[in-house]
Amino acid sequence: MLKKQCQCSRRKFLISSTKAALGAAVSAELLSSCNKKPANIIGDDEQKIATIDLDLYAKLKQIGGSEKIPDIEEFELIAYRKSEDEVVVLSELCTHQGVPVGLPDENGIIKCPQDGAEFDAKQNGKALSPAITPLDLKSYYSILDGNVLTIFRR
Ligand code: FES
Repeated sequence: MLKKQCQCSRRKFLISSTKAALGAAVSAELLSSCNKKPANIIGDDEQKIATIDLDLYAKLKQIGGSEKIPDIEEFELIAYRKSEDEVVVLSELCTHQGVPVGLPDENGIIKCPQDGAEFDAKQNGKALSPAITPLDLKSYYSILDGNVLTIFRR
């Protein structure tokens, strides 16, 4: 008899917790549908690897400014403020032999100190010296919203 009461209360618990979980899932879906990303926004939460406050990277507040960002990948990322509303994010690893490249110069050109390969930050890390390496720097999607930069893997 006692055992049956336990099963009954366990069943009630399972039913009520299932209802609660379903309710939470439906609520979450309704809330997320209110905050759905516009179709032009790339990347999803699984691809998101970092959210950065630009107050910590003052050079990125000015167009043409750049900084290296550590602690996101196993290598540092190069962030380059291309325009008022766009920050280009690239791997710092040269596609020739993996040497860390420098920051973009005043024209957005990134040079590798090893063999002189050049990449254009304004063109998302496009390789400008195909005789050395035809491969562009690895690039990331990014969204700039005010002072907040969100970075996604492609
Ligand atoms: S490692 Fe960069 S050009 Fe060779």
